[in-house]
Amino acid sequence: MSPFHLTRTLPEDATDAALRADVLAGLTGMPKTLPPKWFYDARGSELFERITDLDEYYPTRAEREILVGRAGEIAAATGARTLVELGSGSSEKTRYLLDALTELRCYVPVDVSESALTQAGRALVAQRPGLDVHALIADFTEGLTLPRTAGPRLVAFLGGTVGNLLPAERAAFLSSVRELLSPGDALLLGTDLVKDERVLVRAYDDAAGVTAAFNKNVLSVINRELDADFDPAAFDHVALWNAEREWIEMRLRARAAQTVKVQGLDLAVDFAAGEELRTEVSAKFRKDGVRAELSAAGLDLTHWWTDGEGRFALSLSMVRRA
Ligand code: SAH
Ligand code: TRP
Repeated sequence: MSPFHLTRTLPEDATDAALRADVLAGLTGMPKTLPPKWFYDARGSELFERITDLDEYYPTRAEREILVGRAGEIAAATGARTLVELGSGSSEKTRYLLDALTELRCYVPVDVSESALTQAGRALVAQRPGLDVHALIADFTEGLTLPRTAGPRLVAFLGGTVGNLLPAERAAFLSSVRELLSPGDALLLGTDLVKDERVLVRAYDDAAGVTAAFNKNVLSVINRELDADFDPAAFDHVALWNAEREWIEMRLRARAAQTVKVQGLDLAVDFAAGEELRTEVSAKFRKDGVRAELSAAGLDLTHWWTDGEGRFALSLSMVRRA
């Protein structure tokens, strides 16, 4: 049996149907919005990897620092035989867990980005011939079905990606993760923390414009998939801190009044000069809030680790016994 399996749990046309529904609802709503998972086509995944190397984008480095220091403790606390990683992307930081988890038999990376999954999967199989890698092309908000692999299971959700879900989506998501697990299983969750506004805004509006290109990439995805005529140069990238909700908002602001045609939806969308389209939120957290959200989903926080500068946290929580 090959050590690398790739399973598509999304039907071939589901992405298309979901994209159409999301774009139709988002562009005809007030204010206009687009959901974040459509950022990650092959170019989007590549641009995100460049973001993780930027000086301004501290979360990746902070989370890596915690993983390097704590992977042994995570292994000892979980004894995981299966590691499931949601939104695994390049799986770059995951290597610290893979090295430390001495009982590990199976790694299950889950992502909507097929290009990221196959690249990461190929590299892993070459580097770790003994590991069974079972990659899933799937949407982690849509009721996952995991392959039947050995317990205990550890689900890792890194990168602060949980902050890209809105609060109600987050509650539903955490409950669905709890439903995948059994007593003795654990969740390792990466959350970016509330901090100085200038540091936060810089992380989402870098000087080289990589984040701006990433944000605008969602327009190219819609142009390609739905035969639209967005001009990415006609929009400005905007990142701002919403102090009340404690999240960064990413927006695209129309530089001038314009009409965009989305042929695939038979839709014409008017933008006023200066009108903004919200593309993404990235919520920032505090320990008490994380503990409460996990608890509401039936997960008990057992460990809380931060980097030396207190910018980012990794928490470990265990499935509450009934
Ligand atoms: N874990 C990596 C990547 C984070 S970027 C890191 O920490 O650096 C977020 C990742 O989640 C991307 O690879 C993106 O393709 C994936 N993703 C976003 N929304 C998703 C969804 N609804 N279902 C599955 N994967 C998703
Ligand atoms: N999970 C990442 C975060 O919230 C995703 C991300 C980083 C992102 N930079 C972005 C999403 C810019 C949209 C635009 O930090």
